[in-house]
Amino acid sequence: MAQANDSDRAVGPGPTFPFKSTESSERTVSERELEKLKNDRILVSDFKQKKIEMEAQKNWDLFYKRNTTNFFKDRHWTTREFEELKACRKFDAQKLIMLEAGCGVGNCIFPLLEEDLNIFIYACDFSPRAVQFVKENHLYCSEQCLAFQCDLTKDDLKATIPEESLHVVTLVFVLSAIHPDKMRHALENIHKVLKVGGIVLFRDYGLYDHAMLRFKSASKLGENFYVRQDGTRSFFFSREYLANLFHQAGFHTLVNEYVLRETVNKREGLCVPRVFLQGKFQKCTRNACQ
Ligand SMILES: C[S@@+](CC[C@H](N)C(=O)[O-])C[C@H]1O[C@@H](n2cnc3c(N)ncnc32)[C@H](O)[C@@H]1O
Repeated sequence: MAQANDSDRAVGPGPTFPFKSTESSERTVSERELEKLKNDRILVSDFKQKKIEMEAQKNWDLFYKRNTTNFFKDRHWTTREFEELKACRKFDAQKLIMLEAGCGVGNCIFPLLEEDLNIFIYACDFSPRAVQFVKENHLYCSEQCLAFQCDLTKDDLKATIPEESLHVVTLVFVLSAIHPDKMRHALENIHKVLKVGGIVLFRDYGLYDHAMLRFKSASKLGENFYVRQDGTRSFFFSREYLANLFHQAGFHTLVNEYVLRETVNKREGLCVPRVFLQGKFQKCTRNACQ
């Protein structure tokens, strides 16, 4: 089974050019692309949308049943892109306590555990199968991690993680899978377990990513929100939308930038533009976020 770059299934495998650019403005789309997006007006019916929402957990669990641990690549870029994972300690020997929210099968956490012994990682996902794969990984050990099943939009993280105890939360290609009406609640849930001054490290799909332009008609659920054939969903974030969402949930923005890349899709002989949004959001000091 081939592995996908970052978190994309629609575009398929292929090497990513080493160049990376970080931008504060969104990707410029061609007139043809704009036309395609404008013409895509018909939304999936309300009935079907409710069904997709009700079956969200089942659909992710089936995804991991089909793909087991073979789909996503290990994310070895996290300490390079998010230097806070190393630098946010007040002193060298301080243990870093973090949560990987929506951990999948652990492609973010295991590279971190390999690199850094002085870390404790809570890892949650709402697919029980994904959580089981994390627990079965040979790097999993109870001194350094605790994996648990949880729906970020419903279950209280405080049931497992002490209130205001975390230095860092990573949210990597997860918020895009959640219905926009529930994103704020998921962030508020995370907010409660972060220390004041703690940081959310975010990476996800950006507006006009190639995957967004590839959705066929009848896949649109709402503005910038689509459903894949397997029933999993994907939202494409603009900087403004994301900043507003985090702000409403009690965070202020440290970084919020588009990452523009090009990926070679050998199968289709194409070089395609990828757009991600990368951000760092800090839990405000009490009363400082209005
Ligand atoms: C694209 S995967 C990313 C996994 C992982 N963060 C990584 O980088 O490899 C998205 C994950 O979000 C999880 N997820 C989606 N909605 C969720 C929710 N409401 N609560 C918890 N996890 C959720 C899915 O089960 C899936 O494992």
